Amino acid sequence: MSIKWDEIKQDVLAQIAGANTKEEIDKLKVDILGKKGLIAGFMSQMKTLSPEEKREFGQKANELKKEFEAVFASKMEEIAQKAMEEQMAKDAIDITLPGVKASKGTLHPLTIVQQEIEDIFESMGYTVWYGPEVELDLYNFERANIPQGHPARDMQDTFYIDVERLLRTHTTAIQMRTLEALHDKLPIKVVCPGKVYRRDDDDATHSHQFVQIEGLVVAENIHMSDLKGSLELLARHMFGPTREIRLRPSYFQFTEPSVEIDVTCHICGGKGCNVCKGTGWIEILGGGMVHPNVLEMAGIDSTKYTGFAFGVGVERVAMLKYGIDDIRNFYANDIQFLKPFTRFE
Ligand code: DAH
Repeated sequence: MSIKWDEIKQDVLAQIAGANTKEEIDKLKVDILGKKGLIAGFMSQMKTLSPEEKREFGQKANELKKEFEAVFASKMEEIAQKAMEEQMAKDAIDITLPGVKASKGTLHPLTIVQQEIEDIFESMGYTVWYGPEVELDLYNFERANIPQGHPARDMQDTFYIDVERLLRTHTTAIQMRTLEALHDKLPIKVVCPGKVYRRDDDDATHSHQFVQIEGLVVAENIHMSDLKGSLELLARHMFGPTREIRLRPSYFQFTEPSVEIDVTCHICGGKGCNVCKGTGWIEILGGGMVHPNVLEMAGIDSTKYTGFAFGVGVERVAMLKYGIDDIRNFYANDIQFLKPFTRFE
C-alpha cells in the first residue's frame, strides 16, 4: 500500500496552523488523534499488511502521531498564551490617565500669619497662652489699668453682655490673666493669640471681629531695648531681612512708656509709596513697658520686676504681607480668595 506520508503530514500541519481557537484545535485533535481519527484509521489498515510492510507502516504512522501530538501541544500553549495576553490587555489599567484629584484644603491666611508669628516667638522660648472670648470686665479693663468711668474705655467700643461680662476688645485681657496665673512663676514669656471684638462699622479697614496677638515678657532687668530687639526680629521675619523698625511715643493705659512701632515699607523699601502713604514707614503694632500698676494688681513686685508687652493685629500684618486691600476678604469665605494661600511659599 502506498501512502503519501509527506503530503498527509503537510496537510495536517497546515490545518493545525490554521486553527485559531481552542475549540478548533480540540475538534481537529479528535479528527487526527481520536479513536476514529486519521491515525487510528492507519492502525486499522495495518491488519491487511504483510509483516514487512507492517513494520514500516507502523513506524511511519507512529512518527506522524508523535509529531502531531507535539505540534498540537505547542499550538495549545500558543493559544492559551494569546488568550491570556488578550485578557490582560482587556483588564489593563491605563496608568497614564490623570487620576481624580482630591481637592486639598489650605490654611486660612490669618491662620498662616498667626502660626508664623507664634513660631517666631516660640523659637525664642515663648509659650502660647489662650483666654476666653467672653471676658470679664476685670481682665479686659480693670487689670489693664482702665478703671470704671475712665475715658480710655471709650477708645474701644465694647460689646457688653452684662455689667461684668463683655466680648474682649483686645488680647491684653489674656495678658492680664497670664500675669495673675504666673505672678509667682516668673519669668514670664508668652504670646497670646485670639479673636477680639469691637462695636465698629465694617469697612475696608475695620471689622467688628479681628485677631490680635499679645506678647508679654516679665522678669528682672527687662528693658525697652529688649522689646525693640524682639520686634525687629518679628518685622524682619514677616516683611523681609532688611526691614528697620522705629519706636514712636504713644499712649496706652497698661504700658508706661508706651510706643507705636513702625516698620520700613516693604513695598518701596522706605522711599515712599501709596502703601506707606509716602512716609516710607508702616505702623504695625503698639507696645511698651508693662505699667507698674498692672504688675502690682497681678501680685508682682514692680520694684523688682519689669516687663514689656505688645499687641499686633494679625489682619493688618496679613494685609500688608499679601497686599490685600479690604479686611472683609478674610471673612467672606470666598474660595477663590482663600485658595492661593499656602504656608511655605
Ligand atoms: N491692646 C492694644 C490695642 O488693642 C494693643 C496693645 C498696645 C497691646 C500696647 C499691648 C501693649 O500689650 O503693650 O490697641
